[in-house]
Amino acid sequence: MIKRSFLLSAVIVPAVMAFAQQYGGMWIPTEVNEKEMKEMGMKISAKQIFDPSKPSIKDAVVQFNGGCTAEIISPQGLLLTNHHCGYGQIQKHSTVQNDYLADGFWANNPNAELPNPGVTVDFISDIKEVTDQVLGGTLLTEGTAAENLINKNIEDVKASFKLEPWQKVVIKPMYYGNKYYAFIIETYKDVRLVGAPPSSIGKFGSDTDNWVWPRHTGDFSLFRIYADKNNKPAEYSKDNVPYQPKYFLPVSIKDKQENDFTFVFGFPGRTTEYLPSIAVEQIMNQIDPAMISVREVALKTLDEKMRADQQTKIKYASKYASIANYWKKWIGEVEGLKKSNAVQKKEAYEKKLMDQNKAIIPTISELNRLYSQQALYAVNRAYYTEIIRNAETLALANHFSNYIENYEEGKMDEATLANFKKRISAIYKDFDPELDAQVTAKVLALYANKTRVKFLPTGFDQYKDANANLSKIEEMSKNSVITGRGTFNGTTAAADIDKVFQNPTTLIQQLKKDPLMILFQSLKDVYSEKVEGYYAAYQKHIDIAQKKFMAQQMETDKDRKFFPDANSTLRVTYGKVAGSNPRDAVYYGYQTHLAGVMEKYVPKDYEFDVPKKLIDLYNTKDYGVYKDKTGDVPVNFTATNHTTGGNSGSPALDANGNLIGLNFDRQWEGTMSDINYDPKFSRNIMVDTKYILFIIEKYADAKWLLNEMKIVK
Ligand code: ARG
Ligand code: ASP
Repeated sequence: MIKRSFLLSAVIVPAVMAFAQQYGGMWIPTEVNEKEMKEMGMKISAKQIFDPSKPSIKDAVVQFNGGCTAEIISPQGLLLTNHHCGYGQIQKHSTVQNDYLADGFWANNPNAELPNPGVTVDFISDIKEVTDQVLGGTLLTEGTAAENLINKNIEDVKASFKLEPWQKVVIKPMYYGNKYYAFIIETYKDVRLVGAPPSSIGKFGSDTDNWVWPRHTGDFSLFRIYADKNNKPAEYSKDNVPYQPKYFLPVSIKDKQENDFTFVFGFPGRTTEYLPSIAVEQIMNQIDPAMISVREVALKTLDEKMRADQQTKIKYASKYASIANYWKKWIGEVEGLKKSNAVQKKEAYEKKLMDQNKAIIPTISELNRLYSQQALYAVNRAYYTEIIRNAETLALANHFSNYIENYEEGKMDEATLANFKKRISAIYKDFDPELDAQVTAKVLALYANKTRVKFLPTGFDQYKDANANLSKIEEMSKNSVITGRGTFNGTTAAADIDKVFQNPTTLIQQLKKDPLMILFQSLKDVYSEKVEGYYAAYQKHIDIAQKKFMAQQMETDKDRKFFPDANSTLRVTYGKVAGSNPRDAVYYGYQTHLAGVMEKYVPKDYEFDVPKKLIDLYNTKDYGVYKDKTGDVPVNFTATNHTTGGNSGSPALDANGNLIGLNFDRQWEGTMSDINYDPKFSRNIMVDTKYILFIIEKYADAKWLLNEMKIVK
């Protein structure tokens, strides 16, 4: 039945084409499609979502530490985000005795909350379109002159804002530079950890379930924002007090129904929805497969040792998860692009546009020419950046190489040096150089085999065989300063990084003799000379053509409502609570339950273990008000909201603006939504607020936190 109604609506009712959200949509909060949102069921007004002069929902939504999103759920600045967003902070406070990652952490009063110096949250207090001011006068110039004028205008616009001392303004291009927007930002700097479930709840299913539906993860953690006595941002101080927000989100524990209206408010990172078909084809057939192949080699090599050795498993768990995250996403993306016929769809769209507007013909042929000519460099760049990303020996060599370059160009100041030391030490932490020598040997072989001879240093043929590479790399690695194994100045970089960096001149002399450095530098030099520059030069022209193509799409396709690609600015997306039909005869329900957690339970497993107390609650059915109409506790649910990386931690709200879920992932079949959102396959995944409150009350006995909240029953 469901399948049939899908077909009917698509074929018979072309009016569906006017539905703004059919292409997805991440709308600037001052420009949402209020009419359509209301038609879909929203009961509040656009002003209640974003109002610069009165308290509105936007006052409860923050960017968490520059990446994720978080929201305020109490008058005392209680902040909700994902477990995977707070992971680094939870890890930092963990010790062998108090392993909060493994066991969870719950402050039992505000004094027990844990400070996290360096962690910030950003509020957006206003958004203004400033296109005319930024682009004014630039139509008469082009090239570098236009660029310079735009930059100057941006500075002038910034200076024209009257800001409070705790505010700053950031200007962001939208629609590939066809429009510009100013964001007024207020940054709070005292953010304390309040609570986190154990990883067996917060990260339940780990890598196996990552990007997958049906899902059963309690991916949440709690923080609190602190402010000075005047409720203004301040550095951490024990005298700071809980921040009193202009607005906080009521938390709903009402049952959800399929087709309920929902919207997600947060900071999506990056999407590219308006690329020409040739670019999509390149991503699908060349770029993604190249990146996937490098990560596959790295993951396989790590996995072998992680399975055999418990210590390696712990050491590499976080690195492995981070490599696996996008590896898995790209595989889903390629499949989804194929399945949603993304290239054919884009081709047909281009044809339609060209029929309507002849001026688009030269733009498309220019883009086709540029992308075809850039392809060779783009693919090589994908391999190169991925081998450095995934072989830590090469990553280290790259940092040391950049260090030398900065030093020799006279650009080395204290902050830059501190930054190098920090990045390098971050690799040594949890680093197994012997294991990484294997990864390096294999990715170098892959690179030697996949790269055109003219992009390789002379004699690099000898690196085509991974086995032969291993003995060479291991030999070089074992005595090298950069791997933290070879001694220098009486120590190693892994043991005492400050001492190793004490005398730059002798360090650089030593580095220049290091065989591993010599090998890496030869790769890098050829890459810089023969690939990077060409890639960037083509990209510059592509950007210009893409800006034009974007403008032409907007002026030609009058029926379509356009939204700007994600760029880490505050956005609203909306949709309906919905399951999906991802494959023939497969139907996904929209909601999972605690019984499903127990179905997946594998005692002692690092991904699917379940804490004893949760099992007890399940066995005694001690669910309180948190069970739904089925009698079970809902855990996760899906909807058609268009989300991407950065939306993790975003609030999912109902028609009345109450919090109903916490966004944390997407389903695999729909991850191509970053390039081609398809309402048939693209679903965002959220933690049900009922599960969050159930864990806080019944699992953690942290009722004092519930008392702060406004709970809608
Ligand atoms: N896939 C989600 C996102 O892109 C969640 C990642 C964290 N979870 C994990 N198992 N690695 O961020
Ligand atoms: N998991 C992503 C995040 O951390 C969200 C997504 O890509 O859907 O932001």
